[in-house]
Amino acid sequence: MVSITSLLTSFLVVAGVVIAKPTPKLAKQPVVTYLGTQGPILTSGASTTKGIVYTSGTVPSFNGSTVAGGIGPQTAQVIKNIAAVLEEAGTSWDYVMKTTVFLANMSDYTAMNEVYAAMLPTPKPARTAVQVGKLPGNFLIEIEAIAAIPDS
Ligand SMILES: *[C@@H]1O[C@H](CO)[C@@H](O)[C@H](O)[C@H]1NC(C)=O
Ligand SMILES: *[C@@H]1O[C@H](CO)[C@@H](O)[C@H](O)[C@H]1NC(C)=O
Repeated sequence: MVSITSLLTSFLVVAGVVIAKPTPKLAKQPVVTYLGTQGPILTSGASTTKGIVYTSGTVPSFNGSTVAGGIGPQTAQVIKNIAAVLEEAGTSWDYVMKTTVFLANMSDYTAMNEVYAAMLPTPKPARTAVQVGKLPGNFLIEIEAIAAIPDS
């Protein structure tokens, strides 16, 4: 009969061998990684560094055109567009720490909040929401996000 002690000892020996094994050196990672295409408006979709991703201000376009239907559908599209960028960076809305919401018109604040509250996971990230004079492309909303990248 094998005793508990000898089982434990052999486990420790095996574990010791595994721990002692030299780990291969990882290739040096770039300090900053740029995601998405460098577009005509002088931005990347996002940049990442040391476990953090910063998205560009993201607008409610889908397949090259502005989504119809006003602030509700535009807010939903921006959140989905940011989700795609976050996924490319290896993270998601669950790890967003901060957003900035730019509205063309503060009268859209309540309607924007309804969609934002429903689509974003709770607890919600820290947020700044402001009205700006005008957004490029006459979009009603633009959002940028900063997120942690887990396991990086
Ligand atoms: C995107 O636009 C292209 C070209 O207009 C069209 O063929 C395609 O069906 C569109 N895709 C979606 C998902 O709407
Ligand atoms: C903002 O929206 C309100 C309500 O629809 C409208 O009365 C106002 O003129 C808008 N402001 C601008 C700057 O478009």
